[in-house]
Amino acid sequence: MDIREEFLALDQTVYGRPLVYFDNAATAQRPRTVLELQQRLSVEANANVHRAVHHLAAEATDHYEAGREAVRAFLHAPARENIILTSGTTASINLVAHCFTERFLRAGDRILVGEAEHHSNLVPWQMACQRHGATLEVLPVDENGEYSLAALESRFRAAEGRIKLVAIAHISNVLGIVNPVKEIVQVAHRYDVPVLLDGAQGIVHEPVDVQALDCDFYVFSGHKIYAPTGIGVLYGKKEWLEAMPPYMGGGEMIESVSFEKTTYAPLPLKFEAGTPNFLAAACMVPALEMARMMAESAELQQAQCEMRDFLLEELDRVEGLRIYGLPHERSRKIPLISFSVEGAFAGDIAQILDKMGFALRSGHLCAEPLLRRFGQTSVLRASLAPYNTLAECESFMAALRRAINMLR
Ligand SMILES: Cc1ncc(COP(=O)(O)O)c(C=O)c1O
Repeated sequence: MDIREEFLALDQTVYGRPLVYFDNAATAQRPRTVLELQQRLSVEANANVHRAVHHLAAEATDHYEAGREAVRAFLHAPARENIILTSGTTASINLVAHCFTERFLRAGDRILVGEAEHHSNLVPWQMACQRHGATLEVLPVDENGEYSLAALESRFRAAEGRIKLVAIAHISNVLGIVNPVKEIVQVAHRYDVPVLLDGAQGIVHEPVDVQALDCDFYVFSGHKIYAPTGIGVLYGKKEWLEAMPPYMGGGEMIESVSFEKTTYAPLPLKFEAGTPNFLAAACMVPALEMARMMAESAELQQAQCEMRDFLLEELDRVEGLRIYGLPHERSRKIPLISFSVEGAFAGDIAQILDKMGFALRSGHLCAEPLLRRFGQTSVLRASLAPYNTLAECESFMAALRRAINMLR
Protein backbone atom coordinates (compact mmCIF):
# COMPACT_ATOMS: atom_id res chain seq x y z
CA MET A 1 0.00 0.00 0.00
CA ASP A 2 1.25 3.50 -0.81
CA ILE A 3 0.68 5.14 2.55
CA ARG A 4 0.46 8.64 1.08
CA GLU A 5 -2.56 7.66 -1.00
CA GLU A 6 -4.46 6.92 2.22
CA PHE A 7 -4.03 10.52 3.44
CA LEU A 8 -5.87 12.71 0.95
CA ALA A 9 -4.81 15.97 2.62
CA LEU A 10 -1.20 15.39 1.57
CA ASP A 11 -2.05 15.65 -2.09
CA GLN A 12 -2.65 19.40 -2.32
CA THR A 13 -0.81 22.56 -3.15
CA VAL A 14 -0.56 25.69 -1.02
CA TYR A 15 0.38 28.98 -2.71
CA GLY A 16 0.90 26.89 -5.85
CA ARG A 17 3.53 24.67 -4.19
CA PRO A 18 3.12 21.02 -3.17
CA LEU A 19 2.26 20.82 0.51
CA VAL A 20 4.94 19.44 2.83
CA TYR A 21 3.21 18.84 6.14
CA PHE A 22 5.71 18.89 9.01
CA ASP A 23 3.32 19.89 11.81
CA ASN A 24 2.15 16.43 12.79
CA ALA A 25 2.85 16.89 16.50
CA ALA A 26 0.18 19.60 16.53
CA THR A 27 -2.41 17.65 14.52
CA ALA A 28 -1.87 14.68 12.23
CA GLN A 29 -3.72 14.16 8.95
CA ARG A 30 -6.55 11.62 8.81
CA PRO A 31 -6.65 8.53 6.62
CA ARG A 32 -9.38 7.80 4.10
CA THR A 33 -10.87 5.13 6.43
CA VAL A 34 -11.47 7.75 9.13
CA LEU A 35 -12.96 10.28 6.70
CA GLU A 36 -15.27 7.63 5.23
CA LEU A 37 -16.51 6.39 8.60
CA GLN A 38 -17.13 9.93 9.78
CA GLN A 39 -19.21 10.66 6.70
CA ARG A 40 -21.11 7.34 6.76
CA LEU A 41 -22.05 7.58 10.45
CA SER A 42 -23.13 11.20 10.03
CA VAL A 43 -25.82 9.88 7.69
CA GLU A 44 -26.62 6.40 8.98
CA ALA A 45 -26.22 6.69 12.74
CA ASN A 46 -26.54 10.30 13.80
CA ALA A 47 -28.25 9.98 17.18
CA ASN A 48 -27.55 10.38 20.87
CA VAL A 49 -25.71 7.59 22.67
CA HIS A 50 -26.71 5.55 25.74
CA ARG A 51 -30.25 6.94 25.77
CA ALA A 52 -33.01 6.05 23.30
CA VAL A 53 -33.99 2.50 22.30
CA HIS A 54 -34.40 3.22 18.57
CA HIS A 55 -32.18 1.78 15.85
CA LEU A 56 -30.06 4.85 15.13
CA ALA A 57 -29.36 5.41 18.83
CA ALA A 58 -28.32 1.78 19.24
CA GLU A 59 -25.99 2.07 16.23
CA ALA A 60 -24.46 5.27 17.57
CA THR A 61 -23.94 3.69 20.99
CA ASP A 62 -22.34 0.58 19.47
CA HIS A 63 -19.91 2.70 17.48
CA TYR A 64 -19.09 4.87 20.50
CA GLU A 65 -18.37 1.83 22.63
CA ALA A 66 -16.36 0.26 19.78
CA GLY A 67 -14.16 3.35 19.90
CA ARG A 68 -13.66 2.85 23.63
CA GLU A 69 -12.81 -0.82 23.09
CA ALA A 70 -10.26 0.07 20.39
CA VAL A 71 -8.61 2.47 22.83
CA ARG A 72 -8.63 -0.13 25.61
CA ALA A 73 -6.96 -2.70 23.37
CA PHE A 74 -4.42 -0.16 22.04
CA LEU A 75 -3.36 0.72 25.60
CA HIS A 76 -3.57 -2.89 26.84
CA ALA A 77 -5.84 -1.63 29.61
CA PRO A 78 -7.55 -4.32 31.65
CA ALA A 79 -11.17 -3.19 31.25
CA ARG A 80 -13.67 -0.81 29.70
CA GLU A 81 -14.05 0.86 33.12
CA ASN A 82 -10.48 2.14 32.89
CA ILE A 83 -11.15 4.19 29.75
CA ILE A 84 -12.83 7.59 30.10
CA LEU A 85 -13.52 9.35 26.81
CA THR A 86 -13.00 13.11 26.93
CA SER A 87 -12.51 15.86 24.34
CA GLY A 88 -8.69 15.72 24.38
CA THR A 89 -5.49 15.54 26.41
CA THR A 90 -6.19 18.92 27.99
CA ALA A 91 -9.65 17.86 29.12
CA SER A 92 -8.28 14.57 30.51
CA ILE A 93 -5.58 16.30 32.54
CA ASN A 94 -8.02 18.91 33.84
CA LEU A 95 -10.34 16.11 34.93
CA VAL A 96 -7.62 14.46 37.00
CA ALA A 97 -6.21 17.78 38.23
CA HIS A 98 -9.67 18.66 39.50
CA CYS A 99 -11.02 15.35 40.85
CA PHE A 100 -7.82 13.79 42.19
CA THR A 101 -6.77 16.92 44.03
CA GLU A 102 -10.28 17.45 45.40
CA ARG A 103 -9.94 14.13 47.20
CA PHE A 104 -6.21 13.81 47.86
CA LEU A 105 -4.48 17.23 47.92
CA ARG A 106 -4.27 19.26 51.13
CA ALA A 107 -2.57 22.53 52.15
CA GLY A 108 1.19 22.04 52.35
CA ASP A 109 1.20 19.13 49.86
CA ARG A 110 3.06 19.18 46.54
CA ILE A 111 2.52 18.17 42.93
CA LEU A 112 5.66 17.40 40.93
CA VAL A 113 5.73 18.25 37.21
CA GLY A 114 8.51 18.03 34.65
CA GLU A 115 10.24 21.16 33.36
CA ALA A 116 9.49 20.13 29.77
CA GLU A 117 5.71 20.00 30.13
CA HIS A 118 3.18 21.34 27.69
CA HIS A 119 1.08 24.08 29.34
CA SER A 120 -1.76 21.53 29.42
CA ASN A 121 0.20 19.44 31.89
CA LEU A 122 1.28 22.39 33.95
CA VAL A 123 -1.43 25.03 34.28
CA PRO A 124 -4.18 22.66 35.53
CA TRP A 125 -1.82 21.49 38.33
CA GLN A 126 -0.85 25.06 39.14
CA MET A 127 -4.54 25.97 39.40
CA ALA A 128 -5.22 22.94 41.60
CA CYS A 129 -2.31 23.84 43.88
CA GLN A 130 -3.65 27.38 44.20
CA ARG A 131 -7.10 26.06 45.11
CA HIS A 132 -5.73 23.77 47.83
CA GLY A 133 -2.81 25.78 49.23
CA ALA A 134 -0.33 23.28 47.81
CA THR A 135 2.97 23.86 45.96
CA LEU A 136 3.97 23.04 42.39
CA GLU A 137 7.45 21.50 42.26
CA VAL A 138 9.47 21.18 39.09
CA LEU A 139 11.86 18.40 38.08
CA PRO A 140 14.46 20.04 35.80
CA VAL A 141 15.90 18.74 32.53
CA ASP A 142 19.61 19.02 31.76
CA GLU A 143 21.20 20.75 28.74
CA ASN A 144 20.35 17.73 26.56
CA GLY A 145 16.71 17.81 27.67
CA GLU A 146 16.99 14.70 29.83
CA TYR A 147 15.65 13.94 33.31
CA SER A 148 17.78 12.47 36.09
CA LEU A 149 16.25 9.59 38.03
CA ALA A 150 18.64 10.32 40.89
CA ALA A 151 17.30 13.89 41.07
CA LEU A 152 13.76 12.49 41.10
CA GLU A 153 14.63 10.14 43.94
CA SER A 154 16.12 12.95 46.02
CA ARG A 155 12.98 15.08 45.45
CA PHE A 156 10.89 12.35 47.05
CA ARG A 157 13.30 11.92 49.94
CA ALA A 158 13.37 15.66 50.63
CA ALA A 159 9.58 16.01 50.37
CA GLU A 160 8.97 13.53 53.21
CA GLY A 161 5.62 12.30 51.90
CA ARG A 162 4.27 15.64 50.77
CA ILE A 163 4.41 14.93 47.01
CA LYS A 164 0.96 13.58 46.14
CA LEU A 165 1.27 13.10 42.38
CA VAL A 166 3.81 13.26 39.54
CA ALA A 167 2.65 14.59 36.14
CA ILE A 168 5.14 14.16 33.33
CA ALA A 169 5.17 13.76 29.54
CA HIS A 170 5.93 10.41 27.94
CA ILE A 171 7.56 12.43 25.13
CA SER A 172 7.95 16.21 25.26
CA ASN A 173 6.34 18.09 22.37
CA VAL A 174 9.43 20.33 22.17
CA LEU A 175 12.34 17.99 22.82
CA GLY A 176 11.03 14.83 21.14
CA ILE A 177 12.82 12.64 23.67
CA VAL A 178 11.23 9.44 24.97
CA ASN A 179 11.44 9.87 28.74
CA PRO A 180 12.26 6.87 30.97
CA VAL A 181 8.65 6.74 32.13
CA LYS A 182 8.69 3.16 33.34
CA GLU A 183 11.60 3.96 35.65
CA ILE A 184 9.96 7.22 36.75
CA VAL A 185 6.82 5.29 37.72
CA GLN A 186 8.93 2.73 39.62
CA VAL A 187 10.71 5.43 41.62
CA ALA A 188 7.43 7.26 42.37
CA HIS A 189 5.71 4.07 43.46
CA ARG A 190 8.51 3.32 45.91
CA TYR A 191 7.24 6.45 47.68
CA ASP A 192 3.56 5.51 47.10
CA VAL A 193 3.07 8.43 44.73
CA PRO A 194 0.84 7.98 41.65
CA VAL A 195 2.00 9.11 38.21
CA LEU A 196 0.07 10.72 35.36
CA LEU A 197 1.74 10.33 31.97
CA ASP A 198 0.92 12.89 29.30
CA GLY A 199 0.94 10.63 26.26
CA ALA A 200 -0.14 13.23 23.66
CA GLN A 201 3.10 12.59 21.74
CA GLY A 202 4.06 9.26 23.31
CA ILE A 203 1.03 7.37 22.05
CA VAL A 204 1.98 8.21 18.46
CA HIS A 205 5.59 7.08 18.58
CA GLU A 206 5.89 4.36 21.21
CA PRO A 207 4.05 1.11 21.89
CA VAL A 208 2.07 1.73 25.09
CA ASP A 209 1.09 -0.95 27.57
CA VAL A 210 -0.34 0.82 30.60
CA GLN A 211 -0.17 -2.35 32.69
CA ALA A 212 3.51 -2.90 31.91
CA LEU A 213 4.23 0.80 32.54
CA ASP A 214 2.17 0.54 35.72
CA CYS A 215 1.27 4.25 35.40
CA ASP A 216 -1.78 5.43 37.32
CA PHE A 217 -3.12 7.69 34.57
CA TYR A 218 -2.29 7.93 30.85
CA VAL A 219 -3.85 10.61 28.65
CA PHE A 220 -3.83 11.45 24.95
CA SER A 221 -5.76 13.15 22.11
CA GLY A 222 -7.28 11.47 19.08
CA HIS A 223 -6.35 14.18 16.59
CA LYS A 224 -2.62 13.55 16.96
CA ILE A 225 -3.07 9.88 16.14
CA TYR A 226 -5.09 10.20 12.89
CA ALA A 227 -8.57 10.59 14.45
CA PRO A 228 -10.70 13.77 14.26
CA THR A 229 -10.44 16.57 16.83
CA GLY A 230 -12.77 16.47 19.82
CA ILE A 231 -11.91 13.06 21.21
CA GLY A 232 -9.45 12.33 23.99
CA VAL A 233 -8.64 9.56 26.39
CA LEU A 234 -8.09 9.25 30.09
CA TYR A 235 -6.86 5.85 31.19
CA GLY A 236 -6.95 5.48 34.96
CA LYS A 237 -6.42 2.67 37.42
CA LYS A 238 -9.77 1.65 38.82
CA GLU A 239 -8.86 2.33 42.43
CA TRP A 240 -8.12 5.99 41.64
CA LEU A 241 -11.12 6.49 39.37
CA GLU A 242 -13.41 4.91 41.97
CA ALA A 243 -11.98 7.10 44.74
CA MET A 244 -12.20 10.37 42.78
CA PRO A 245 -15.44 12.40 42.87
CA PRO A 246 -17.15 13.08 39.51
CA TYR A 247 -16.02 16.06 37.42
CA MET A 248 -18.97 17.62 35.60
CA GLY A 249 -22.54 16.88 36.59
CA GLY A 250 -25.31 16.27 34.07
CA GLY A 251 -26.83 13.58 31.89
CA GLU A 252 -25.05 10.22 31.38
CA MET A 253 -23.08 10.40 34.62
CA ILE A 254 -25.96 9.66 36.98
CA GLU A 255 -27.63 6.55 38.29
CA SER A 256 -30.57 8.28 39.96
CA VAL A 257 -31.49 11.90 40.61
CA SER A 258 -33.78 13.56 43.08
CA PHE A 259 -33.80 17.07 44.50
CA GLU A 260 -32.42 15.67 47.74
CA LYS A 261 -29.71 13.38 46.42
CA THR A 262 -28.04 12.12 43.26
CA THR A 263 -26.17 8.86 42.89
CA TYR A 264 -23.60 8.45 40.18
CA ALA A 265 -23.24 6.03 37.31
CA PRO A 266 -20.55 3.36 37.56
CA LEU A 267 -17.29 3.77 35.62
CA PRO A 268 -16.64 4.88 32.97
CA LEU A 269 -19.86 6.95 32.58
CA LYS A 270 -19.39 8.59 36.00
CA PHE A 271 -16.88 10.90 34.28
CA GLU A 272 -18.72 11.36 30.98
CA ALA A 273 -21.41 13.97 31.62
CA GLY A 274 -23.37 15.25 28.62
CA THR A 275 -23.56 14.18 24.99
CA PRO A 276 -20.15 13.00 23.87
CA ASN A 277 -18.50 13.38 20.48
CA PHE A 278 -19.63 9.97 19.35
CA LEU A 279 -18.49 10.42 15.73
CA ALA A 280 -14.91 11.20 16.76
CA ALA A 281 -14.96 8.37 19.32
CA ALA A 282 -16.13 5.92 16.65
CA CYS A 283 -13.30 7.06 14.38
CA MET A 284 -10.75 5.88 16.95
CA VAL A 285 -11.32 2.39 15.49
CA PRO A 286 -9.89 3.08 12.00
CA ALA A 287 -7.45 5.70 13.33
CA LEU A 288 -5.82 3.32 15.79
CA GLU A 289 -5.87 0.56 13.17
CA MET A 290 -3.87 2.86 10.87
CA ALA A 291 -1.48 3.72 13.72
CA ARG A 292 -0.97 0.02 14.46
CA MET A 293 -0.38 -0.79 10.82
CA MET A 294 2.21 1.98 10.42
CA ALA A 295 3.95 1.04 13.68
CA GLU A 296 4.24 -2.57 12.54
CA SER A 297 5.70 -1.67 9.14
CA ALA A 298 9.46 -2.19 9.39
CA GLU A 299 9.85 -0.20 6.18
CA LEU A 300 8.01 2.87 7.50
CA GLN A 301 9.78 2.73 10.85
CA GLN A 302 13.17 2.49 9.16
CA ALA A 303 12.27 5.43 6.92
CA GLN A 304 11.32 7.50 9.98
CA CYS A 305 14.73 6.84 11.58
CA GLU A 306 16.43 7.83 8.32
CA MET A 307 14.47 11.08 8.14
CA ARG A 308 15.27 11.88 11.79
CA ASP A 309 18.98 11.20 11.26
CA PHE A 310 19.08 13.13 8.00
CA LEU A 311 17.44 16.19 9.56
CA LEU A 312 19.59 16.09 12.69
CA GLU A 313 22.77 15.91 10.62
CA GLU A 314 21.76 18.53 8.06
CA LEU A 315 20.38 20.98 10.61
CA ASP A 316 23.58 20.64 12.59
CA ARG A 317 25.50 21.86 9.52
CA VAL A 318 23.60 25.16 9.37
CA GLU A 319 25.66 27.92 10.94
CA GLY A 320 24.14 29.40 14.10
CA LEU A 321 21.39 26.76 14.32
CA ARG A 322 20.70 25.20 17.70
CA ILE A 323 18.72 22.00 18.22
CA TYR A 324 16.87 21.48 21.52
CA GLY A 325 16.75 17.98 22.96
CA LEU A 326 19.70 15.84 22.01
CA PRO A 327 19.62 12.74 24.20
CA HIS A 328 22.69 10.61 24.76
CA GLU A 329 21.15 7.85 22.64
CA ARG A 330 19.72 9.07 19.35
CA SER A 331 17.26 6.15 19.32
CA ARG A 332 15.39 7.94 22.14
CA LYS A 333 14.62 10.85 19.81
CA ILE A 334 11.50 10.76 17.65
CA PRO A 335 11.37 12.60 14.30
CA LEU A 336 10.38 15.83 16.06
CA ILE A 337 13.05 18.51 16.04
CA SER A 338 12.82 21.97 17.60
CA PHE A 339 15.48 24.50 16.72
CA SER A 340 16.35 28.17 16.61
CA VAL A 341 18.57 30.12 14.23
CA GLU A 342 20.81 32.94 15.39
CA GLY A 343 19.93 36.24 13.73
CA ALA A 344 16.60 35.07 12.28
CA PHE A 345 13.27 35.13 14.11
CA ALA A 346 11.51 31.75 14.18
CA GLY A 347 8.15 33.24 13.17
CA ASP A 348 9.68 34.95 10.13
CA ILE A 349 11.35 31.74 8.96
CA ALA A 350 8.07 29.84 9.39
CA GLN A 351 6.22 32.46 7.31
CA ILE A 352 8.70 32.27 4.46
CA LEU A 353 8.63 28.47 4.58
CA ASP A 354 4.84 28.56 4.51
CA LYS A 355 4.90 30.50 1.25
CA MET A 356 7.15 27.74 -0.14
CA GLY A 357 4.61 25.06 0.88
CA PHE A 358 6.17 23.88 4.16
CA ALA A 359 3.91 23.67 7.21
CA LEU A 360 5.97 24.01 10.41
CA ARG A 361 5.15 25.15 13.90
CA SER A 362 6.82 28.21 15.36
CA GLY A 363 6.43 30.04 18.67
CA HIS A 364 6.63 28.93 22.29
CA LEU A 365 5.09 25.54 21.44
CA CYS A 366 2.90 25.79 24.58
CA ALA A 367 6.01 25.24 26.70
CA GLU A 368 7.11 28.72 27.75
CA PRO A 369 8.99 27.67 30.92
CA LEU A 370 11.05 25.14 28.97
CA LEU A 371 11.93 27.65 26.26
CA ARG A 372 12.90 30.16 28.92
CA ARG A 373 15.26 27.56 30.41
CA PHE A 374 17.01 27.46 27.04
CA GLY A 375 17.01 31.26 26.75
CA GLN A 376 14.37 31.36 24.00
CA THR A 377 10.89 32.77 23.55
CA SER A 378 10.21 31.24 20.16
CA VAL A 379 11.54 28.25 18.22
CA LEU A 380 10.73 26.30 15.05
CA ARG A 381 9.56 22.70 15.09
CA ALA A 382 9.54 20.10 12.33
CA SER A 383 7.48 17.08 13.40
CA LEU A 384 7.15 14.18 11.01
CA ALA A 385 4.74 11.29 10.52
CA PRO A 386 5.28 7.97 8.72
CA TYR A 387 3.68 9.44 5.58
CA ASN A 388 6.48 12.00 5.20
CA THR A 389 9.40 11.23 2.92
CA LEU A 390 13.14 11.72 2.73
CA ALA A 391 12.61 13.71 -0.48
CA GLU A 392 10.43 16.14 1.53
CA CYS A 393 13.21 16.42 4.13
CA GLU A 394 15.72 17.22 1.39
CA SER A 395 13.58 19.92 -0.16
CA PHE A 396 12.84 21.27 3.33
CA MET A 397 16.56 21.71 4.05
CA ALA A 398 17.07 23.59 0.78
CA ALA A 399 14.06 25.83 1.55
CA LEU A 400 15.24 26.47 5.09
CA ARG A 401 18.69 27.55 3.90
CA ARG A 402 17.07 29.92 1.42
CA ALA A 403 14.76 31.36 4.08
CA ILE A 404 17.66 31.95 6.47
CA ASN A 405 19.70 33.65 3.76
CA MET A 406 16.80 35.98 3.02
CA LEU A 407 16.67 37.04 6.68
CA ARG A 408 20.32 37.36 7.55
C1 LIG B 1 2.74 16.81 25.12
C2 LIG B 1 1.39 17.47 24.90
N1 LIG B 1 0.53 17.57 25.93
C3 LIG B 1 -0.68 18.11 25.76
C4 LIG B 1 -1.10 18.60 24.56
C5 LIG B 1 -2.47 19.19 24.45
O1 LIG B 1 -3.26 18.43 23.58
P1 LIG B 1 -4.73 18.91 23.17
O2 LIG B 1 -4.60 20.33 22.71
O3 LIG B 1 -5.12 17.98 22.08
O4 LIG B 1 -5.59 18.79 24.37
C6 LIG B 1 -0.24 18.54 23.47
C7 LIG B 1 -0.62 19.12 22.16
O5 LIG B 1 0.17 19.66 21.44
C8 LIG B 1 1.04 17.95 23.64
O6 LIG B 1 1.90 17.86 22.62
